Amino acid sequence: MHNLDIFNESKRYMPGGVNSPVRAFTGFNINPPVIKSGKGAYIYDEEGKKYIDFVLAWGPMILGHSDEEVVEEAIKTLREAQAFGAPTYLELELAKLICDTYGIDMIRMVNSGTEATMSAIKLARGYTNRDKVVKFSGCYHGHFDGFLVAAGSGVMTENIPGSAGVPKDSIKNTIIANYNDIDSVKEIFEKLGEDIACVIVEPVAGNMGVVPATREFLEFLREVTKKYGSLLIFDEVMTGFRVALGGAKEVYGIEPDLVTFAKIIGGGLPCGAYGGKKEIMEMLSPIGPVYQAGTMSGNPVVMSMGVATLRKLINNKYYYEQLELLSSYMQREIELILNNRGISFVINRCASMMTVFFTEDTTIKNYEDAKRCNVDFYRRYAEHMITNGIYISPSQFEAMFLSVKHTKEDIDRFLDVLRRF
Ligand SMILES: Cc1ncc(COP(=O)(O)O)c(C=O)c1O
Repeated sequence: MHNLDIFNESKRYMPGGVNSPVRAFTGFNINPPVIKSGKGAYIYDEEGKKYIDFVLAWGPMILGHSDEEVVEEAIKTLREAQAFGAPTYLELELAKLICDTYGIDMIRMVNSGTEATMSAIKLARGYTNRDKVVKFSGCYHGHFDGFLVAAGSGVMTENIPGSAGVPKDSIKNTIIANYNDIDSVKEIFEKLGEDIACVIVEPVAGNMGVVPATREFLEFLREVTKKYGSLLIFDEVMTGFRVALGGAKEVYGIEPDLVTFAKIIGGGLPCGAYGGKKEIMEMLSPIGPVYQAGTMSGNPVVMSMGVATLRKLINNKYYYEQLELLSSYMQREIELILNNRGISFVINRCASMMTVFFTEDTTIKNYEDAKRCNVDFYRRYAEHMITNGIYISPSQFEAMFLSVKHTKEDIDRFLDVLRRF
């Protein structure tokens, strides 16, 4: 069947033909390829066309698609353990791997990044007995009502729901600050510090395109939350086990109170988790008063994929060096090509996640900067790349990822296609 026929029929049965909006290629002059299979760094559509994949399921596939060892583990588990809704040894294995590698006391498994962040917020509120949450414009923490806020930044501005169906009441305790802007956070804490349960931040933002936080900014967040008795939550759904084994926490050397994970820890199956200090985590039911539960949480097949993925990453630490080498090569060569063509751009990169912003600005350090990018130019670039077998995000405000299966030849192929744009 042709991609287009499948996509058109999908539109009859699923809103927009998709199960998550960005996949629909809205505003594009090309339709999304319908993906049938993946192996290593490559994915194949229903027409048999091959793409080098730089989306990697939006981050999880750091080992590439259908890694043999990971898949073997999952199949082995599936043969004997599908779902029990009871404690299993596999959950303990994954919990230990994450806690010991990242450096937290305790963890709770859930089924997605959204579930992880919304649960972490509830826990922070329960622990501090406060309601207000500080979040940064341009950071995405999932589709939980309290995070879907379109706001003029700053404490004085009234929030507007960022989606239909979000009651104004459910965002009245969300306060929006500017990313990488210490003063905007200072102002909020000076006015409302005693009421703030937590600050949630992507330490390396990936959802306005890649925008790493400055060290001073994260240090300030650590300091101010400590001073006012609020919790600092690192949302490492994208960066966890991606930018380093110890995530952004390792890169910056800054310790959050709570952390959220998803993507890589599930090895490509639906998974999420949140964790932190024992004293905070033991506020969770059944020990404490904060209720959070899940029929499928800690599912054995998911856990075995996560265990196999993390084991492989832990046992092959050079993977991160390899990813850094390849990513820095890719960045340098893209810069050369675009400079030679007289195209204005900024590349932001942290380890194996990067974004090429088409902009007249010289830096992109927050959402306001990112919004000034030439999204129409990005659309034409992405259409060209995807049509020519280079699968990148159909949005300027996303990251490009590398896996350990990408080779220099794959990057050179990317560069060749770029040269022809
Ligand atoms: C930083 C961050 N947090 C949370 C989420 C939500 O995760 P999920 O899509 O698994 O619900 C995402 C998704 O991309 C994310 O990048």
